[in-house]
Amino acid sequence: MAHPTRLLCIGHRGARGHAPENTLLSIETGIRLGADMIEFDVQLCQEELVVIHDPRLERTTNGVGRVEHVRFDYLRGLDAGKGQQIPTLHEVLRLVEGRIPLNVEIKSAGGTGARIAAALRDAMHEGWSADQFLVSSFHLPELYEFKQAAPEIPIAALVCGVPLDWAACATELGAQALNVSEEFVDSRLIEDAHSRGLKIYAYTVNHPDDMSLLRDAGIDGVFSDYPDRVLALRQ
Ligand code: G3P
Ligand code: MG
Repeated sequence: MAHPTRLLCIGHRGARGHAPENTLLSIETGIRLGADMIEFDVQLCQEELVVIHDPRLERTTNGVGRVEHVRFDYLRGLDAGKGQQIPTLHEVLRLVEGRIPLNVEIKSAGGTGARIAAALRDAMHEGWSADQFLVSSFHLPELYEFKQAAPEIPIAALVCGVPLDWAACATELGAQALNVSEEFVDSRLIEDAHSRGLKIYAYTVNHPDDMSLLRDAGIDGVFSDYPDRVLALRQ
């Protein structure tokens, strides 16, 4: 069995099992628990890059409507759980201040990738380095736009299943990693990714048995709502 020396522990939407997802509280909780990296989702509302998963507001806030259609002033007044506001990308960068690498997932299209590239490049003038970011998206053309705008920042092709042309896509994108839903990961895919020089990370892995299975199959890391469980396995 392939045992990587270290199973990378990626806090999913911060530490979603412990705090309201994609909030500053969730991100800080993930860091406090000891995650190696924090993942969060970014969308463009009318004028700002904000951290929220769904295209609509209803599930995670007391607001209504589509994120892309609402103004930042409105978003700001909403409760994202436990009194938390929907954070901006900028606020996350300021909170984290380089303490831990970040997986920035581009959720919306239509220029979001280029806006995020500009924001991360600004952050690199304020102390962040390119290798402290891993940018991913299911929207591969948007990810491509991001890569064109910020070629120095590592990216991961994000897929749910395993398309026939996943490796060609990863190569064309210049990706360093493949992020894939756990139900589609097996040792063959892991070996294939490794043979192409790619890291492979599985989401969203919350049961310790599944973490063990994936680790034994040679996965490089897992996204989890419970970073503490990944760390317990690593001990
Ligand atoms: O990036 C890994 C994972 O977050 C992708 O799925 O829907 O949780 O953003 P989702
Ligand atoms: Mg995500």
